[in-house]
Amino acid sequence: MSADESFHCPDWLKVVPDIDALNRAAAEEFARCASEAISAQGRFTVALSGGNTPRAVYSLLAKEYGSSLLWGSIFFFFGDERHVPPADPQSNYRMANESLLSHVAIPPRNVYRILAELDAKDAAEQYQAVLEHFFQVTPGELPRFDLIMLGMGEDGHTASLFPGTTALQERSRLVVATHVEKFEADRITFTLPLLNAAAEVMVIVAGANKAPVIRRIIQSPESPMYPVQRVHPHNGRLLWIVEQSAAATA
Ligand code: 6PG
Repeated sequence: MSADESFHCPDWLKVVPDIDALNRAAAEEFARCASEAISAQGRFTVALSGGNTPRAVYSLLAKEYGSSLLWGSIFFFFGDERHVPPADPQSNYRMANESLLSHVAIPPRNVYRILAELDAKDAAEQYQAVLEHFFQVTPGELPRFDLIMLGMGEDGHTASLFPGTTALQERSRLVVATHVEKFEADRITFTLPLLNAAAEVMVIVAGANKAPVIRRIIQSPESPMYPVQRVHPHNGRLLWIVEQSAAATA
């Protein structure tokens, strides 16, 4: 049964037939947002997601948009990072650098890495200061990214906002350090106020292992169970691109 038949498909949800279609749809949306922002304001600010799903999207961007996007006008940030050095195989920066950043004409000064080799709290505070300076915001004002890319874990986490963590309750800071019991590790993550200030948030999800959470999200939106359901830009666009096996009903 296709997802479209099994439940009402919300307007923010785009179900695609396979992983190639997901990668293409996500890359096309990235390029659309970039071109629009650069035309309108001369720059494009984007926070990349980590994990495995976006790697192929980043590679496709490098392969097919290497010469068509104005990379010098694009500014890269990271929505979260593992508490590891940049060369660590777990590093989201390393994954983005290997799949995209090192393959296109992005000036190094345009890439704002979370300094996750520092103490996690220090890294979070330092990154918040970087954001406040870059976006020239006054204390209390929220930076507005043109695009924030997110994924979703099997427990419904997004960025490094995991169920039951105090990071989910953060209402004033932009970036916090958080300890993730299940991984026995620290992370640095954007908070909900920052995520929900974005002009657009694109969530990409693939894999049958995500289907139970996706089904719950679609079929009972009124009772937010998962951190990812708390992401809904107050004055911006929300787009979910979900690969069929993650959207299929049981
Ligand atoms: C991370 C991500 C995290 C990720 C989800 C999904 O640092 O891992 O920020 O939120 O998007 O865990 O990961 P997969 O794409 O690997 O399933």
